[in-house]
Amino acid sequence: AVAAAANSPLLGFNAISASGEDTLRLPQGYRWEVLVSWGDPLFADAPAFSESERSEAAQSRQFGDNNDGMSFFPLAADRALLAINNEYTNQEYLLPAGKVTSLADVRADQAAHGVSIIEIALKDGRWQRVLDSRYTRRITANTPMQLSGPAAGHALLQTQADPSGRAVLGTFNNCANGETPWGTYLTCEENFNGYFGSQDPALALSAAQKRYGIAAVDAGFGWHAFDARFDLAKEPNEANRHGWVVEIDPRDPQSVPKKRTALGRFKHENAALHINSDGRVVVYLGDDERGEHLYKFVSAQRFDKSNPQANRDLLDDGTLYVAQFSAKDGEIRGEGRWLPLVHGHNGLTAANGFADQASVLIHARLAATVVGATTMDRPEWVAVHPSGQQAFCTLTNNKNRGTEGQPVGGPNPRAANHYGQILRWAPAGGDHASETFSWDLFLMAGNPSVHPGTAYAGTANIDADNMFNSPDGIGFDADGRLWIQTDGDYSNQGDFAGMGNNQMLCADPNSGEVRRFLTGPIACEITGLTFSPDHTAMFVGIQHPGEEKAPSHFPHGGMPRSSVVVITREDGGIIGG
Ligand code: FEO
Ligand code: CA
Ligand code: CA
Ligand code: CA
Repeated sequence: AVAAAANSPLLGFNAISASGEDTLRLPQGYRWEVLVSWGDPLFADAPAFSESERSEAAQSRQFGDNNDGMSFFPLAADRALLAINNEYTNQEYLLPAGKVTSLADVRADQAAHGVSIIEIALKDGRWQRVLDSRYTRRITANTPMQLSGPAAGHALLQTQADPSGRAVLGTFNNCANGETPWGTYLTCEENFNGYFGSQDPALALSAAQKRYGIAAVDAGFGWHAFDARFDLAKEPNEANRHGWVVEIDPRDPQSVPKKRTALGRFKHENAALHINSDGRVVVYLGDDERGEHLYKFVSAQRFDKSNPQANRDLLDDGTLYVAQFSAKDGEIRGEGRWLPLVHGHNGLTAANGFADQASVLIHARLAATVVGATTMDRPEWVAVHPSGQQAFCTLTNNKNRGTEGQPVGGPNPRAANHYGQILRWAPAGGDHASETFSWDLFLMAGNPSVHPGTAYAGTANIDADNMFNSPDGIGFDADGRLWIQTDGDYSNQGDFAGMGNNQMLCADPNSGEVRRFLTGPIACEITGLTFSPDHTAMFVGIQHPGEEKAPSHFPHGGMPRSSVVVITREDGGIIGG
C-alpha cells in the first residue's frame, strides 16, 4: 500500500464532499449534461420514452436500460461512435406489473438488454447525439451471433434449436467492456445464470451448472416461463452459450457479433486489452463472484498495426491463464503466478472431467480450481496503466471471506470484507506474457471514522474526506490518473456512515492520493467510463438511480432513468488535470 500524500501534481481539482442528494455533483469548474437516457429514441421511427407503455418494437429502437461499460470510437475529429452496454433491466420500472407476466413482457425485457451503438457529434463545443445515424444499432438478447474459437461447435454448446453449436441468439447482462486497437468493441457477459430456470423446482443440476449459479428458481427475470430457450429442462445447453466475451465491429451495423470462447466462460466483468511488448495481445479478465478468480488471455499470434484485417480473429487462438497469489503471513504484497488452463496439463484431464480444451474453456471455473487458482474478493474491472508497467484490479467486496475455501490472506486480507480493495501487479520484466508477477494492494477501502486503528479503517490513503466502499469500475486516462467508480452500500449508516451515495474518485497511482470527484444520485451505481481522445470530455454511466423504488427522479424528473452523462470543464481543459 501507498502512504497518504496530499497535493499530487496529477490531481488538478478540489475534492468534493460525500452526498446523499438526488443529483450529480462535481468539483468547482466542472459541468455535466445528460447525453442519453434509457428509453430515448435512437431512430427517427422510434417512439418517445413513455412511463407506462413498453413493447419489444419500441424498446428495440430505443436506448437500452442500465447502461454500464462503454467505449469511444472516433470517426473524425468532431464525430464518434459510442458503444454502450445495457446490462440488465429494472423490471419495477420497465414492466407495468413490475415483473414479466407474458411472452410480450419477456420480449420487451430482452429488447432492453444488450448493447446500444450510437453516433455522437461535437456541435457548439458539446458532444450531442446524432439521431438515426447509419451506424446506430441495437444489439439485444435476440440478435443473431456466432460462437467462435476453440469451443465453437462443441457438443456442450449444441441445442435443439442450433445443432451446429455455433449460431447463438443474443447477449445479456453485459457488464463492462474493452476495446481493441483494430477498432472493435468487447462486451462482457456477466450474471447470465439469472435468466435461466425451470418449472420443476426439483430439476437435477450438474456440479458445473451449480458452480455457475444456475438454479431451477431463476433470479427474478422470469424468462424461462414464457421462452423455452431459457427453460433448463428443455434446453440444458443454452446456458453454456452465455458467459463469454463478445466482439463487435461498431463501424459495420451488418456485422455478426462473435463470442470469443478462447477467453473462457465465467461471469465476465471487463476485458482489459494490452498489446504486449512483443506484439501479443494480452486480455485481463475478472470473474465477479465471491471466491472466484482473476484470468488473463495471451494470443498466439501478434498484433499487426499495418494490416487491420489480419487482426480480426486474434482472440480466437491463445492461452487462458488463471492467477495464483502468494505472500508472507500478514503482508499485503508478494509474488504470483499465471497458471495455464490447457487440456492435458496440471490435472485438466479426462479423468478429472475435462474431455478436451473446449470443456476446459466452457467450465473455466472448475478448471481454475483444479490447477490451484486463488479465490478472490470478487474481481471486477482491470485496467492497465498507460506505461504498461502495472495493472490494477478492483476486488469489490466479499462477505464470505474467511469462510470455508476462502481463507484470509494475501490480496484478500480481511474477513467479511464489506469495503473492498484495489490490487495491482507488475509482470516480471514488464512482459505481460510472463507467467510470474509481483503484487501489492494499492488501497484497501474502509471507514477510519467507524473503525479507527483496525484493518477496516482502510489503508493510509483513505481518510474521513475520501472514504468509499466497493470499488468497481476503474480506468486510466492518458496522463495516468486512475479513475475509480463505486457500486456499494449507499445507506450512509453504520459501517458506511460518511460515505453517502455511490461516487467516482481519482487517484494518483504514484503518490497514492485519492480524491472524490463525483457523487451520484440516490440509489445509483456509477459505472462506465470513456473519454474523447483529447480528454476534454469524459463520459460516465449513472446506472439504476432509484432502484427498488428508492426515491430518485434522476435525471429528468418523474421515473428515474439510467443515463450516460458528459462531463466537461468550464475552461475546456483536460478532465482531472
Ligand atoms: Fe456488472 Fe460485477 O458488475
Ligand atoms: Ca461492475
Ligand atoms: Ca459491482
Ligand atoms: Ca451494476
